Amino acid sequence: MIDSARLFAPETYAAVRRPLTEAETLPSDCYVSPEFHRREIERIFRPRWRFVGRADEIAAPGAYRTVDTFAGPVVVVRGRDGVLRGFLNSCRHRGAQLLEGQGECASAIVCPYHAWKFDLDGRLLGAPAMEKTQGFDRGKNGLIPVRLESWGGFLFVNPNPDAPPLLQAWGDLPEVLGPYRFEEMVCVRRIEFDIACNWKLVTENAMEEYHTGTVHKVSLGQQHGESVATRGEWDALYIKQDTTIALMTGETSSLPFIAGLPDKHRHGTYFTMIYPSLQFACTQDCMWWLDFQPLGPERTKVSVGFCFPRTTVARQDFAGQVQRYYARWETSIGEDNGIGEVQQRGLRALGRPAGRLSWKEHHVHKLANWVLDQVLDRPASARRAAE
Ligand code: FES
Ligand SMILES: [Fe+2]
Repeated sequence: MIDSARLFAPETYAAVRRPLTEAETLPSDCYVSPEFHRREIERIFRPRWRFVGRADEIAAPGAYRTVDTFAGPVVVVRGRDGVLRGFLNSCRHRGAQLLEGQGECASAIVCPYHAWKFDLDGRLLGAPAMEKTQGFDRGKNGLIPVRLESWGGFLFVNPNPDAPPLLQAWGDLPEVLGPYRFEEMVCVRRIEFDIACNWKLVTENAMEEYHTGTVHKVSLGQQHGESVATRGEWDALYIKQDTTIALMTGETSSLPFIAGLPDKHRHGTYFTMIYPSLQFACTQDCMWWLDFQPLGPERTKVSVGFCFPRTTVARQDFAGQVQRYYARWETSIGEDNGIGEVQQRGLRALGRPAGRLSWKEHHVHKLANWVLDQVLDRPASARRAAE
């Protein structure tokens, strides 16, 4: 075990900092230590935009979806005017959480505790038995707005009013993934898993195909990827394959390719990772996202959503065809979740030295270094230079 004093010291990680073929993996402590985990939440997750889901999942006025951010519970609700808004999911009276999960709240949000009633745009409409409360102003007791931004129909919230805009960190992602026209897609299924491993294990796994020949031997078989040069806080692994990668080995589909894809997109799949832990997997006929949210040092919530173009979903053969896509996703995601838990158990072996990496694990190495960039204490000399 690395003692507390050395856990955030840059010298501890000198071997991770070397070039890939000379480097070591992160030490086991980075995957099990509650202290390391707390630092990741504080420096990586809390300041960044939190993925919510799709705008088309919250389609009708009154529809809502809640999301737990590292700055507390948030709800996104569609107003009668069709506008989506984000609020702290916390009553202005004595703080009860207003809404759970997802659903429809008809014409207003009513607190389950003392029935304060808020309009879908956040205004306080009614507060029983408050007429004797001196100076109580309804106008000053509406829901607290939270920043909400979207791209391609994907929604993100950030309770920090000073956070930079969502796309500021995304560099050239909109340019590279724009041709998929996500804004014309709909989410057709969403599943969630609560798995017993650190968030970095599933994130690393999602960005290397080294494991595919073993973990997905029967379902997908060995895949071969190449790293794509990106600008911004995201990465991409490109797997060349002329047919959709969203089906199991040997299967074919009658669903059409997304119209107008450029050559490279038509002949392969982009597995992207928006740092820290949101993957958009984009293939010729559909996309799916995987969002990995830490629930603890050794627990992660995996949320997955499957999206197709609206025109594909409207086809008569869609309901029949999509079953094989679901079967593929459920199988491969189950296999990936399973190996994450196997790895987590092994990482608990005391006295286990760090490992070495294959040239195929470029993104594993890159993520490790990115995490260290965020969480380590800076040497005194660097701090002085920055001040
Ligand atoms: S806490 Fe919501 S009405 Fe009292
Ligand atoms: Fe996998």
